[in-house]
Amino acid sequence: MSVGYRAVQWSAHKRVYDTIACGAAALYVLGFVAVGKFLWRSPHQVSDEILIMRALGSCAIVLFHVILCIGPLARLDPRFLPVLYNRRHLGVLTFLIALAHASIAVGYYHGFGVVNPALSLLTSSTRVSSIEAFPFEWLGLCALIIMFFMAATSHDFWLRNLSSRSWKRLHMLVYVAYALLVGHVALGALQTDRGMLAPALMACGAALVCGLHIAAAEKERRGDVGVQTSIESDETWVDAGPVTGIPANRARNVCTPGGERIAVFRHDGGISAVTNVCAHQGGPLSEGKVIDGCITCPWHGWQYKPGDGCSPPPFTEKIATYQVRVVRGRIEVNAMPLPPGTPIEPAPVASEDSLGAPEVVRA
Ligand code: HEM
Ligand code: HEM
Ligand code: FES
Repeated sequence: MSVGYRAVQWSAHKRVYDTIACGAAALYVLGFVAVGKFLWRSPHQVSDEILIMRALGSCAIVLFHVILCIGPLARLDPRFLPVLYNRRHLGVLTFLIALAHASIAVGYYHGFGVVNPALSLLTSSTRVSSIEAFPFEWLGLCALIIMFFMAATSHDFWLRNLSSRSWKRLHMLVYVAYALLVGHVALGALQTDRGMLAPALMACGAALVCGLHIAAAEKERRGDVGVQTSIESDETWVDAGPVTGIPANRARNVCTPGGERIAVFRHDGGISAVTNVCAHQGGPLSEGKVIDGCITCPWHGWQYKPGDGCSPPPFTEKIATYQVRVVRGRIEVNAMPLPPGTPIEPAPVASEDSLGAPEVVRA
């Protein structure tokens, strides 16, 4: 979308987050070098180049963990959502810091011989069957290449051209990059004389990332409603719970038997159902609100009209809508998605259906 959508453009908020992220990274690197100079005094003194390389490498890996934790944290607690909006910029920063780390490593370990440094990086050790001599730098290189593609396709221009599905698939490679980096750090530590601190920290980081992802998935699973109620002439209707449970202008996330997630909104016009997946970057629409009559994605603010899933003019994005009905105060949604942009009358809510204390819906 949407050159015009302010929420995905630079804004004062984004500048503040970027300044904080860059400042924190700079402080980390300076602090690491200062502490490193103190800890690694003679006879174990290391050169400034190695110290800076380690500072940059560890800074990149810390940021990598932060990035991997943001997604599940935002699902577990909406207060993390503002950080999610800025994850892209954090991704670019991580890539640039990792690139600086890799450049110093290549220059320092491969730049002084007669062989071209890039060739030397690829050929100096090829003993893949040996743990002590495994070319651990190759793993870092592969991770860096993946990060490069993520950073290079970061602009919304690529998102539009690649389609959000393939773009998201590309970004899922982040987990491959992470696995490569676990190997890079663990095998690298075995080949230098720094003991097991880095691998041990990496293991704690991996446990944290896995734990948060499992907790977020479990929360999402528990929050699902969507029991199949009836099959009528090949149409599957799922129960989406009582009308009273949804506060005005908010939604409930419903999962169909086929695993599709649907956002069921209660708004002025009644009840409307659209796919839960935002056309921008797959943000969870059910966690958004109806603002100015439009469903507004919680991630970057893209908007869709509840009645037809179309973005308001001049934007042209469309998302799938669903047939919806209210039967004795309970909402039912037809599990079959309609083509994106299909108009569907909101299901009217009788006044007795809207009574009752609204429960707090997962934010
Ligand atoms: C071409 C790519 C890369 C090369 C050639 C490379 C090279 C190296 C080398 C030589 C070391 C050992 C440094 C030492 O002597 O202490 C190292 C360690 C490390 N690298 Fe890389 N690296 C690359 C990519 C990456 C990337 C993409 C990341 C993270 C995003 C990364 C994170 C680390 C970390 C965390 C360490 C351990 C630092 C420490 O123990 O203090 N590296 N790397
Ligand atoms: C530099 C340009 C980048 C942009 C534009 C960007 C932005 C995004 C966005 C918005 C998504 C899809 C939303 C989702 O489904 O979670 C995504 C997925 C992801 N990206 Fe990136 N990212 C970039 C680079 C990176 C880098 C370098 C990393 C890691 C170091 C990274 C880590 C992730 C992760 C962890 C996910 C999906 C997993 C989750 O939901 O937490 N991204 N990226
Ligand atoms: S606005 Fe970006 S994911 Fe919805």
